[in-house]
Amino acid sequence: MPKYHIITYGCQMNKSDSEKVAGILESLGYIPSEKMEEADLILLNTCSVRERAEEKVFGKLGELRKLKKKNQKLLIGIFGCMAQRMKEELIEKFPHVDFVLGSYKFTELPKVLESLNDNNKKIVLAEDNPKPEEVDFRIIRRENKFQAWIPIIYGCNNFCTYCIVPYLRGKEKSRDPQEIIKEIEHLANQGVVEVTLLGQNVDSYGKDLGNVDLADLLVEIHKIPGIKRIRFLTSHPRDVSDKLINVVATHPKICPHWHLPLQAGSDRILRRMGRGYTYNEYKALIEKIRAKIPRASFSTDIIVGFPGEEEEDFLATRRALEEIKFDTVNLAIYSKRPGTPAASYDDPVPYETKKKWFDELENLQRKIIYERNLSMIGKEELVLAEGVNPKNPKELSGRTENYRLVFFEADRKLIGKFLLVRIIEARLWSLKGEAIREVDL
Ligand code: SAH
Ligand code: SF4
Ligand code: F3S
Repeated sequence: MPKYHIITYGCQMNKSDSEKVAGILESLGYIPSEKMEEADLILLNTCSVRERAEEKVFGKLGELRKLKKKNQKLLIGIFGCMAQRMKEELIEKFPHVDFVLGSYKFTELPKVLESLNDNNKKIVLAEDNPKPEEVDFRIIRRENKFQAWIPIIYGCNNFCTYCIVPYLRGKEKSRDPQEIIKEIEHLANQGVVEVTLLGQNVDSYGKDLGNVDLADLLVEIHKIPGIKRIRFLTSHPRDVSDKLINVVATHPKICPHWHLPLQAGSDRILRRMGRGYTYNEYKALIEKIRAKIPRASFSTDIIVGFPGEEEEDFLATRRALEEIKFDTVNLAIYSKRPGTPAASYDDPVPYETKKKWFDELENLQRKIIYERNLSMIGKEELVLAEGVNPKNPKELSGRTENYRLVFFEADRKLIGKFLLVRIIEARLWSLKGEAIREVDL
């Protein structure tokens, strides 16, 4: 039987697409190969969000050139956002690539593989306005037995001025709520206890359907027996409704963890980014959520060095991190993306200055996280045991409601179960705990 190997870059959406692709391939009789070198088909699921993400793929393609030289029969395919952005150019630059499938086009894999086997001609499938297509959820090959990631809305209509995602993933399209419920019921029957709902902007869920929104969907999922924990991301700060906050506050299975990208603390920069809120509005939203849900936690994304950003703007972002004290901050230096409005903005600040700002924010956030971790010592947290700590086989790893990684000694039989864990030690990126008891939710 032919073997496949998929390498996934980028966001959770890509991770979810790779699970679909694995399912499609296995329904065609392919089997997974742990080692890339032993595969007959290698697929790269790519990301274009920053130049760095693309460089990683170029590096990998260089490596693959050697493999292809050794084994002419090896098939190499590229899908995901870089495939959508570069299309034929990928084959021109990397002639050892056999096929390129733009956003959502991986559903054509069966036909593509068949025609490659017939005549070995290169194939590029990518449309300018890509439209999502569904894959039968019963065939999806999920990486994890107890947790599942489920896209509920595809695409993005926001067009933040720095971002390439809307150009590559097309217009927002919500999935049918009944289909989502059926998929989650199916997963619950197979033992999945935690689901994470995905979207570039989950708060937009249902806008194109007209009679349902994220809050309604969460209430329905909350009723599904077997599902013990529900997460959702990413929320756009402009679109979080009071109804949603109320639903999260009153439904215990929904983790009160919010991924709310702030992007910048300066109103001038937020305006130029086209984010649609001011820093004060953002802060008021956080305060509103904290007032309703005292145990709420927040993570965010920050772009450092947006074109035209000055020292004063950077200081505003620093102040924002100090004031809000996020649980997690994904920091990235601005990367110019072709075709986006910001790519034509003046960008006079040298990279070194941006790097200095980045380092300063990173150091600050380290301190904040460490203090936050210290403040958790002595607390009892509900943790889903996810697996064995790769660095210490006696320990299991899991995450708290606020997405903190915890290691604790416990029997492997408890993987997939919820445990009450007392936090006994704070580290920078994780916590150490002791298991108190299993909790039957
Ligand atoms: N809708 C998703 C966006 C996915 S992109 C969300 O809002 O989270 C994830 C993050 O990448 C964005 O939040 C942003 O912080 C970052 N990003 C997007 N374009 C970027 C660029 N051109 N340079 C640097 N970071 C960027
Ligand atoms: Fe990009 Fe903005 Fe859409 Fe997020 S909301 S994907 S940052 S355009
Ligand atoms: Fe990257 Fe595309 Fe996701 S650009 S972040 S893989 S939507």
